[in-house]
Formats: sequence, structure tokens, C-alpha cells
Amino acid sequence: MGTMSEQVEALARKYVDFAGVDCLPPDIRDKLADPATFVDPSVLAYTTAQSKIAQILHENPASDAMLRIVYPDTNGKPLTGGLDRFLSRSLSGQALRDRLEFCSKWLAANFVQPRKRLVDLGGGSGSYAFEALLQRSGRVHSGFQWDILDIDLEAVVVAQLVARSAGLESVVTARQGNFMKDVAAPADYAVMIGVLCGMDKTTATAVLTRAKAHLKHDGEIFAATLLQQAFDEDPRTFRILCNVGGWQLRPKTLDQVTEVFTTAGWNILNIFSERPPHHNHTSGSGQYAIVHAQVSPS
Ligand SMILES: C[S@@+](CC[C@H](N)C(=O)[O-])C[C@H]1O[C@@H](n2cnc3c(N)ncnc32)[C@H](O)[C@@H]1O
Repeated sequence: MGTMSEQVEALARKYVDFAGVDCLPPDIRDKLADPATFVDPSVLAYTTAQSKIAQILHENPASDAMLRIVYPDTNGKPLTGGLDRFLSRSLSGQALRDRLEFCSKWLAANFVQPRKRLVDLGGGSGSYAFEALLQRSGRVHSGFQWDILDIDLEAVVVAQLVARSAGLESVVTARQGNFMKDVAAPADYAVMIGVLCGMDKTTATAVLTRAKAHLKHDGEIFAATLLQQAFDEDPRTFRILCNVGGWQLRPKTLDQVTEVFTTAGWNILNIFSERPPHHNHTSGSGQYAIVHAQVSPS
């Protein structure tokens, strides 16, 4: 396990109430609650044996394979019980589904435009591409191109298979590559969703600075990253996945997100939240900062 992020460490010091979480045996519930005992190896053995989500994130925290369970809320079959259902139905699982819905609608309305090219940096298996094109009910503008760039070959192959089976292979392309190095022709738009969540401010700034190299001089980005609100409102999910499983997320405050984009040379046009108004039982913000920004004139 790498160095613990300061946010995961702060959560590790807290007592987290697991009372009423019936899918867990009482001894695991008690150990999870207490900062002194969640580190017991039996807790990790239990969570990774009982939950595919916990297992994936423990083995490869950067993987989008977890999202392929949470977005459709199935682990090969509909989630009817157990720890995967608990994690997927948590506020954080719902936030991921709301993020997919909000962002794909926004992208369909704003970035899917005639003769424009969009590069999806860390686009994984293309969930946002396919959902956004679905929003347009198959009416795709001529010359529009959605180009997924991801370092994970498995995710790229899944994206290519889905594109082919949906008859979208001329619109959605996927290639394996590192967005810090592999720059193709300048695109009009960039998407970067769920990529900055594990990065500290310095790394996120470097990645966002590099993102500009993929774009034309007046290019725009649509990016989503995790807010501290997520840890505050759903500590149980992050206790299991981060404290126990070792996923070093680095949720940020809205001020930190603003600072990172601005320092990287972006002019922020708008910041949204994934949370639909009827879920607004907290202070109004959701778990993600969803940023629409444009390359600042230099
Ligand atoms: C959590 S997934 C998000 C996938 C997708 N954007 C979504 O939200 O559904 C993060 C993705 O970023 C990719 N990634 C991380 N670093 C990368 C890099 N340097 N170059 C390209 N892809 C990268 C990972 O392989 C992974 O598929």
C-alpha cells in the first residue's frame, strides 16, 4: 500500500457507526466502526471476499472495472443483497450514477456538435460516450468524433466492443495511451471524469496543465472530481474501500478544485454538481465538482 492520503488518514481516526448494516456480521461491524480495530486483517479478508467492488479497488484503485458494476448496479446479475449492494446503493454509489446521468446529458447538449472532435482523457470503457450518444437517440452530428484515450487496455477493448455492437465504431474510437505523453491532433473538447479524484493538488495541476496539449488554443474541458462532502456524508463506504481496502482517494474542497484548474491555466466557466435537486437533503452540494472550463488565453 502506498502512502496514505491525508483525507483517508483523517477518516481513519474517526469512529464510524455501522449499526443497522445488516449485510455485515456483528463482529465485522464492530471492528469496522472502531479506528483501533478496522486494521485487523480479518476485516480486509472479509470485505474483499464478499464484495467484487472492494476486491477490484484493493487490487487496482485506478480501474474503471468498479464503475462497470456500479453504473448498471449489477455484478453480473442484479444486486439483490450483500456487501456489493450496500456499497452500490450508498450515497456514493448513487452519486456515481447521478454523475453519469448529469454529465452525459450535459455533454450530449453541449459537446456533441457537428465536425467537432472530443478527446476523453482516462475515458475507461466509454460509459460517458455511449450514455451521451444514447441521450441523442442515435442522432449524431456529422463529423462528430468521440476519441477515448486510456492507459488500461482492458477498458479500451471493452469500449471498442461496445462501439462495434452499437454500430458506433465510426463515431466512438478508443486507443490505449498515456494522456501525459500520447498527444494526437488537437481536439475541440476534452472530458476528464473520475481521473483527478485520487491525485494530490500538485499532480492534478500537472495533469490539467498537460490536458491543454490535447486541445486547440480555445479548447474546452468538462471534468468531474470528488469533493470532501463525499467523505463527510458517507463515511461507511469510504471506511470499507479506503481505510480497509487501501484506496487512496483525495477528495478536495471546492476552493482546492478552483485553485487547481486556475493554476493549470484554465478559465472556469461553470461548476456544477451531480446531485438532482430532490436529493438535496444536505447543504446543496453533491459529491462531485463538475467543472466546465476553457483554456485561458496566455
Ligand atoms: C476511475 S476510471 C474513470 C473512467 C471513466 N472516465 C468514468 O468515469 O467512467 C479512471 C481511468 O483513468 C485511466 N487513467 C489513469 N491515468 C491515465 C493516464 N496517465 N493516461 C490514460 N489513462 C489514464 C485509468 O486507466 C482508468 O480507466
